[in-house]
Amino acid sequence: MNKHKKIGLFGFGTVGKGFYENLKKQPHLPATIEKVCVKRVDLPRIGHELYFTDNPDELLLDPDIDIIVELIDDADAAKKYVHTALRNGKNVISANKKMIGESLSEVDFWHSEFESTLLYEAAVGGGIPIVHAIDGFLRDQEVTKIRGILNGSSNYILTQMQQNNWDFEKALLDAQNKGFAERNPTLDVSGVDASYKLLILAYHAFGEVFSMNSFNAESIENVSKENIKKARLKGKKIKPVATIERLGSEITCTVKPELVSPNDELYSIDFENNAISVDTLISGKHTAAGKGAGSLPTGSAVLEDLKRILNGFSYQVKKESKILI
Ligand code: HSE
Repeated sequence: MNKHKKIGLFGFGTVGKGFYENLKKQPHLPATIEKVCVKRVDLPRIGHELYFTDNPDELLLDPDIDIIVELIDDADAAKKYVHTALRNGKNVISANKKMIGESLSEVDFWHSEFESTLLYEAAVGGGIPIVHAIDGFLRDQEVTKIRGILNGSSNYILTQMQQNNWDFEKALLDAQNKGFAERNPTLDVSGVDASYKLLILAYHAFGEVFSMNSFNAESIENVSKENIKKARLKGKKIKPVATIERLGSEITCTVKPELVSPNDELYSIDFENNAISVDTLISGKHTAAGKGAGSLPTGSAVLEDLKRILNGFSYQVKKESKILI
C-alpha cells in the first residue's frame, strides 16, 4: 500500500484546473494537493479549500512535499523549478512542451542523473497517451517515421475556416476562449508548439536529441480562402501536419499545412483533436487519436502521470540515447 503523497502544484490555469478537477473525481488515490504556487494569490478562483502561495520555495523546500506538478507558462521559471525539485529528491510531472522540447539534452541528463522521476505525458497530444506508448510499447522497435496533428489550436482554426467559412481571426479568438491556444498563440499557429512536441516524441522514439534548428516550420496564417476552395474542389482538407522521418542517416522534420486526402488517417481529425501515427519496422503503423488540447483532457494526462509515479514508473528512453548537435 502506497504512503499518502503530498503534491506541490505550480500554476492553476487551464491545465492546473483540469488536473485539480480530475483528481477530485478519484478520491481513492493516495495523493492530495498540499500547496499551489501562483503569481496572484488574491484572485478569486475555484479550489478555495487549497492553500495558495506566491513563494516557490514554500513548495520546493518543503520536505513534506513528495511530488511537484509543474503547469506554468513560463518555460524558464518552469525549468528552474523542475531542476530544483529533482535535485531535492522530489518526483516531478510537467506539461511544459517548450521547456522540455528546448531542454531535451538536459532532460536526458536528468533522467540518468537523478533517482527521482520526471514525466511529461501532458506536454504532447493533450489527453492522448503517446509518450507512454512510444517509450513503453514501442521502445524496442525501430521507428522510421512519426507523422501527426500535434497542435489542437491550429487544427481547430483550420477546421472552422474549412467547415464553417470562419475568418482566421475569429477562429483564433474562439480557440483562445476555449482554452486551447497558448498565451502567446504565435507558438500555435507558426508550428513552433508542434515542433517542440515532435522533438519530445522523436527523443523517445529514436533515443536522440534533435534541435529546433533541424525544423522547417510553416505557419497556418498563410492558408488563404483560395487554398481552401481549391482543396475542397479536389475533395481534400488542409491540416497542420508535423512529420519527422528517417531515411538512412538523413532526418527530415517539417511542420506545415498539408493537403490531406480522405484515405489519410488525419483526414477525419477535426477541431482540437490530435492524431499521431508512428511507423515501425516490426509492427507497422500505430495511430492514436483524441483530444489534443483543453483543460480536462490535458489535466487527465497529468493525472495519469501521477498514477504512474505512485506506481514507481519512470521513462526508459532508448539505451542508445545520444545527443546530436
Ligand atoms: N496550445 C496547445 C494546442 C495546447 O493548441 O495544441 C496543448 O498543448
